[in-house]
Amino acid sequence: MRGHATLALLAALACSRPEPAAVPAAAAVSAPAPLRTDAAVATAEPFATHAAADVLADGGNAVDAAVCAALTLAVTYPSAGNLGGGGFLVTWDPGTREAHALDFRETAPAAATRDMYLGPDGNPDPEKSLEGHLAVGVPGSVRGLSAAHRKFGRLPWKSLVLPAIHLAEEGIPVSAGLAGEFKRHAEKLARYPASAAAFLKADGSPHGKGDSWKQPDLARTLRRIAEGPSDFYTGETARLIVEEMKRGGGILDVHDLSCYSAAWRDPIRVPYRGREVVSMPPPSSGGVCVGMILRVLEGWTPAEIRLDDPAGAHRYVEAARRVYADRSQHLGDPDQWRVPLAWLLSPAYAAERRATIRMDGATGSRNVAPGAEPRREGVHTTHLSVLDFDGRAASLTTTINSGYGSHVTVGGAGFLLNNEMDDFSAKPGAPNLYGLVGGEANAVAPGKRMLSSMAPTVVLEDGRARLVVGTPGGSTIITSVFQVVTRVVDQGESLEAAVAAPRLHHQWLPDKLFHEKGRAPPPALLEALAKLGHTLEPRPEIGDVCAIAVDGAGRATAVADPRGRGLARTLPAWSRPETK
Ligand code: DON
Repeated sequence: MRGHATLALLAALACSRPEPAAVPAAAAVSAPAPLRTDAAVATAEPFATHAAADVLADGGNAVDAAVCAALTLAVTYPSAGNLGGGGFLVTWDPGTREAHALDFRETAPAAATRDMYLGPDGNPDPEKSLEGHLAVGVPGSVRGLSAAHRKFGRLPWKSLVLPAIHLAEEGIPVSAGLAGEFKRHAEKLARYPASAAAFLKADGSPHGKGDSWKQPDLARTLRRIAEGPSDFYTGETARLIVEEMKRGGGILDVHDLSCYSAAWRDPIRVPYRGREVVSMPPPSSGGVCVGMILRVLEGWTPAEIRLDDPAGAHRYVEAARRVYADRSQHLGDPDQWRVPLAWLLSPAYAAERRATIRMDGATGSRNVAPGAEPRREGVHTTHLSVLDFDGRAASLTTTINSGYGSHVTVGGAGFLLNNEMDDFSAKPGAPNLYGLVGGEANAVAPGKRMLSSMAPTVVLEDGRARLVVGTPGGSTIITSVFQVVTRVVDQGESLEAAVAAPRLHHQWLPDKLFHEKGRAPPPALLEALAKLGHTLEPRPEIGDVCAIAVDGAGRATAVADPRGRGLARTLPAWSRPETK
């Protein structure tokens, strides 16, 4: 295959970050797990849940199942499941009592420049950062899933790619949800020939409900990846990506791909009322911000922070407002920006911020920079939660940013590329797709990772994973994860109730308190919050949480958000296979 030698040679050139070293499989290094629990999985799409449940039933661990589910979603859930995007994984192993966080976030291509998304008037041009070849960050998913598998996997890599290959080759019936998405995105997908070929019928019309949808190019790509991840970064798939970039005027090149590496990072670990919340560190703001909100609210009793009471909801909203203000200033890629983590998460800073919350009314968000209402275009990120029979937890969030990403499919390879570059701050103070503002910390720079809000999280009690949780939703990820955690941990609600409950969201700017149109909180609560001076604004449903709760006896409850079209399954402890 043409170009391979050159690509492999380029891979040998100095890259800024060394590839993580191969580590013996977890089974070889971890102590025998003392725990027997149900196993469980919750993902945003049924094929992926079944594939992951089969892996668990075959003796795979939580990481094997998470990797298999993520690869399956790349076929069956094209709005967010991906090969052409990135994500984050948080794991907990009760045997070794170790938490790990894997960063497979996209990076800016080496040719990226700080002002590349500004129009002639000097203001951000979202068309450039959201659609087409310039919007694409260097994809991290294949490297990331492979790095997770190399460190922790028990089953062969190939066996985890197989379900995805079969579904792409044999085709899946188009669900009502998928048919709706194809219809909504048909016009944009049609602008890119390879996207039209992958997602539309030969006559250019979208596939309808019940049609059998096959993805032969994607199947071939997955067959190559089944041989190892390097094909994506230095092999045939890399060649196809680079050709696609050249066709569409993109800047991502062969060196960007060959230099990409995933990074193991120290997870955020925040003690909270006798538990410990483990989540994703920068370059996601997710874990830091969930942790900061919890720290501020820990100064009150659980009864004082009930989200269904006006005073509790007000405390939470005021905490979130302050935390998102800090997000805009202090958080960015830790490889290129000094993130003051210890200070942000310190009890002293939480107390300082808490002291500024007034109970007689809302504090207006004090920044002159314009905010913008977050738009919702459907779900475009996806989260999956897995628990294996040893109590090991995997919490994985992955994305191509907004629905169908850049809308660019790699010709001949059959997968969509992300538009993650929009997560950078194109200009200080100017809002991105989610209305988030930022500054220097998150400015575009070559090789830099764009700040995320994704928050794959595990809550521990006495060394055991008790809650595995995460969601899509852009800037609302942080507040959705917080709300599920506090409802389960502080209020003792069932996981079903906590996930189904109406969600409130405030992100400092715009200075609005968003509530869900379809799942409005009680009118009395909204009236009371309006009286306190909060500017209420209804918006479409928030998030698509996939979560697992485990009780002290190892009984698991898995929940896929009623807002989405996911599926959760539990496998009872007695069905545990003989360990291979
Ligand atoms: O990393 C982030 O924070 C965003 N790119 C996530 C996008 C997202 O959650 C869209 N889902 N609805």
